[in-house]
Amino acid sequence: MTRFGLTAASIVLAAGLATQAAAAEKLNYYCSAQEDWCQLMARGFEEATGIKVNMTRRSSGETFALIKAESANPKGDVWWGGTGDPHLQAAEEGLTQPYISPMRGELHPWALAQAESAGDRTIGIYSGALGYGYNEELLKANNLPVPACWKDLLDPVYKGHVQMANPNTSGTAYTTLATIVQLFGEEDGFAFMKSLHANINQYTKSGSAPIKAAARGENTIGIVFMHDAVKQAVSGFPIKVVAPCEGTGYEIGSMSIIAGARNLENARKFYDWALTAAVQSRALEVKAYQVMSNVAAESSPAAPDLSSIKLIDYDFALYGSSAERKRLLKKWDDEVSVLPQ
Ligand code: F6P
Repeated sequence: MTRFGLTAASIVLAAGLATQAAAAEKLNYYCSAQEDWCQLMARGFEEATGIKVNMTRRSSGETFALIKAESANPKGDVWWGGTGDPHLQAAEEGLTQPYISPMRGELHPWALAQAESAGDRTIGIYSGALGYGYNEELLKANNLPVPACWKDLLDPVYKGHVQMANPNTSGTAYTTLATIVQLFGEEDGFAFMKSLHANINQYTKSGSAPIKAAARGENTIGIVFMHDAVKQAVSGFPIKVVAPCEGTGYEIGSMSIIAGARNLENARKFYDWALTAAVQSRALEVKAYQVMSNVAAESSPAAPDLSSIKLIDYDFALYGSSAERKRLLKKWDDEVSVLPQ
């Protein structure tokens, strides 16, 4: 009996330890960048550490909503990529937790500023400017003028030719809404969004979808981050990239550790690893042309040159705040999305 008892106990103990080990060797990874980059990061981390990565890829606003919905019983460990605004909102709502990475000394000041404004609950991993791209063959085939400014997109000749994402799901589209409000003021900004609505053929879920559709010849103009348009152009599609003449907003793509992460040590390992120059330089393998936050990360001559683009002084603290993001999205839902087209 004693002998049997001991054996049973050791089996239970061994099983317990094995479960713990298995739990310690995995990472639930929420990713809001493009699918190919998300995959590269997941597989790269697995190869570097042997930790098994379970990935969920969703757009920035969707991932924020998922983390919020799961907050009583968190399932994700780390959220990598996506625009900074919803990461800031998550920080403010206590959905993410502070972490001071030893990698901080290698980062650009703008990446650290993002952390500072969020009590270290998030950090900048890349930056990129908003703009749009168009399919030059479709533009010509439809006898459309070449657009150069935001306001050009309101011309009724472009009716049915413009696509953007829905700002509720997509960080790109929320950045667009916040940029237009900052450029033109709230009243004129909403008048702009209403007038743009008349030309929109579809609001997609994901921010980069409109330029992928343009690359395939299914849409003419896509409002996207300029790096996402460059990716299609360098991939051989007839896409031209526009930095709007009035100036434009930009993102600080971010990373956060989820509050209550069950695999906290692995989340921190991923976080430190993702901030290294070697890992950030791998973005070029999937033609991700954002400016990386590690000062030593490689960049490509194909990447948009942010210093030559007229950037607004995007107010991340305001537009990433919970109250303002909720208010703007509700106003867009109530006043823009319901209008007939
Ligand atoms: O990876 C491409 C990218 O445009 C990022 O720069 C950005 O943070 C993210 O996608 C936004 O995606 P979405 O608009 O779908 O939230």
